[in-house]
Amino acid sequence: MADNELCRSLFSFIESSPTAFHSAAHVVADLGQEGFELLDEGSRWKLDGGGKYLVVRNGSVIALSLGENFTVESGFRVIGAHTDSPCLQIKQNPRQGSLAYFQFGVEKYGGAILPTWFDRELSLAGRVTGLTANGEIVTYLIDFEKPMMMIPSIAIHLDRGVNEERKVNAHTDLCPIMSQTISDIGDWNQLLVEQVKKQYAEHPLRSILGQDLFCYDCSPPALFGTHDDFIAAPRLDNLLSCFVGAHAIKHAHTDANCMLIFNNHEETGSVSDSGALSNFASQVLRRIAGDTEKRAICLSRSFFLSLDNAHASHPNFQDKTDPDHPVVLNKGPVIKHNSARRYCSHGQSSALFRLICSEVGVETQDFVMRSDMPCGSTIGPLTTAELGVDGLDVGAATWGMHSIREVTGARDPVFLALVTEHFFDRETFPVISKF
Ligand code: CO
Repeated sequence: MADNELCRSLFSFIESSPTAFHSAAHVVADLGQEGFELLDEGSRWKLDGGGKYLVVRNGSVIALSLGENFTVESGFRVIGAHTDSPCLQIKQNPRQGSLAYFQFGVEKYGGAILPTWFDRELSLAGRVTGLTANGEIVTYLIDFEKPMMMIPSIAIHLDRGVNEERKVNAHTDLCPIMSQTISDIGDWNQLLVEQVKKQYAEHPLRSILGQDLFCYDCSPPALFGTHDDFIAAPRLDNLLSCFVGAHAIKHAHTDANCMLIFNNHEETGSVSDSGALSNFASQVLRRIAGDTEKRAICLSRSFFLSLDNAHASHPNFQDKTDPDHPVVLNKGPVIKHNSARRYCSHGQSSALFRLICSEVGVETQDFVMRSDMPCGSTIGPLTTAELGVDGLDVGAATWGMHSIREVTGARDPVFLALVTEHFFDRETFPVISKF
């Protein structure tokens, strides 16, 4: 696939994935078109060699592509990523302010850089659950798609210190403005019912009983730079990785067993029924791998490639990263290392990854945090610990991680796509010593 075509597909994936629920649904729809069959966790499964399957749970999704001559003892080549991104989640009830504008209070979802949420057109998307005319309870994903609200800054004339000492109070400063007056909106639940009707004309809801709604940046992703060197987009962390993983399993021509594990709730610590600390992946593997002996062999022969964006060195803030480990956009996937196991990479798994990259002509880079600063983390350590598989944390070099708009290199998705396809397609998988 040409670079620009890949970028355009990435952009459309990002635009149709405003929330984790939408990202998971998008992966299910996309792979469904490629013959992946959706399994219900609440029904009996019958899996066949050569079969392709999907399992979805609360914003997380697992995809399986079983080899033609499927034996579980061959193990799985697994790509992991997370479906959620830092954002603002709206509260249950509208704000009762002293001015008449219609507003919602918000909760921070994950570690968003809050000042970046001001002065942007925001839309609203998420999940609503309600009652149909028949009295059934049904859940729908909704997305208003258009600019619905904004959080204007306070003028510099009213806050002279803004460039020196800006602080953001999430309770008072971040309430988006949605309408001129409360009466313009009428009944908020009715507005949600109308939106459901617009998107799902044949299955209208009579009333709304529950909502998980999030604000998102609705400006489209863009290439920028004199030679379109860079990508600016919302939610690159971690939709870029979900896109690349789905692209790889879609294009894999292999007899190997391949798997995607895309978890929700990474940005809030992974503790949920579907996060990386849940039993989602281990339960699915237990149902595939059967008895404990087979399962142990399967896991011992599996490898977990955890994809999540990596911090690029910033030319304006060079003292924030280790100068001995420069990370540059458009220079290849970044292996993330941390002695305290905040990343699951180690020398052996890094060697294996470098080999796979070199076979498709892709260079790698290394990120290690400054030793006088604390290190972030991701799903790699959690999933490898939970499953007992070997693995590696790697990702695309990124500036402004957790800003409402993040930046990566235009070539970086291409490099990751080449490497992940080869990770699935490579005829044999190198065995790593357990010593
Ligand atoms: Co991330």
